[in-house]
Amino acid sequence: EVNMNAVIAGVRFKNPVVMASGTFGFGHEYGQRYDLNLLGGISGKGLTLNPKAGNPGTRVYETPSGMLNSVGLENPGIPAFLEKEAPYWATLDTARIVNLGGGTLDDYVRGAELIQSDNARREAAGAKAVDMIELNISCPNVKEGGIAFGVRTVAAREVLRAVRAATSLPLAVKLSPNAEDIASMAAMCEEEGADAVSLINTISGMKIDIRRRASVFHNLYAGLSGPAVKPVALRMVHQVARAVRIPVIGMGGIASASDILEFIMAGAAVVQVGTYNFMNLDAGRDLVADLEALMLSENIRTLDEIRGIV
Ligand code: DOR
Repeated sequence: EVNMNAVIAGVRFKNPVVMASGTFGFGHEYGQRYDLNLLGGISGKGLTLNPKAGNPGTRVYETPSGMLNSVGLENPGIPAFLEKEAPYWATLDTARIVNLGGGTLDDYVRGAELIQSDNARREAAGAKAVDMIELNISCPNVKEGGIAFGVRTVAAREVLRAVRAATSLPLAVKLSPNAEDIASMAAMCEEEGADAVSLINTISGMKIDIRRRASVFHNLYAGLSGPAVKPVALRMVHQVARAVRIPVIGMGGIASASDILEFIMAGAAVVQVGTYNFMNLDAGRDLVADLEALMLSENIRTLDEIRGIV
């Protein structure tokens, strides 16, 4: 009998397997393959106040070791999410995380306010739809906002302070591996009242089409994820977990139960699974089952026993 529970800012995760933003839509499609209530949590596709069409041209390129993406935060906008998706989320028994992006500081703030007020209304009526906001200051693929806020601690502090003032919902900040110093970025988040940090978003990368003598991507660069980034992500999670007392949500290239245990041993409270959802459409369900079996065979009864042990 193993106990896979984790708690972040009062939000209960029945296990540490959370689906990462941008790889899971809002859950409908995967929900037709397996019961989403098996999962510790889900983080929906990054949302901005207004709808976004995303980037033109190639959006995804596979490499032998990982995936490059330049989606450009395509999303229906927060009001459409609240109207069309939140009712479904309100029926789920898993931790529900809204990934919040923005072009300007004001977009972030107004987005957070809308989510907060809609959720309060739903909760009063019996069933809330959102348990946590994940503040995305680390998208590498948009010209306005996104990573522009997440590379420099000074800019990130300004956004976080404003969003923190705008919502009482549990708030995690999603950090960029391209930040000037990820440990000081996380320390700033703790100082400004974030409840958690999540890392890593994708690493800025590139692919050139030699025939066209041009980048494959409209914006030149794209975000690298998958197996290629795992060692870097693990090191950053370890470094950040030692720099702050708030919980760390770890991710980057996780594709097995043993990968999950590595991140927990590095100090993660829970983990997120991204690119692997595209390699195995039942990733969430399989990882929860595999993790339970691995914990049993490794004689690990609770995650607390091994968290940050390395
Ligand atoms: O790699 C990423 N791609 N990270 C994000 O935060 C957003 C996403 C996109 O939409 O481009």
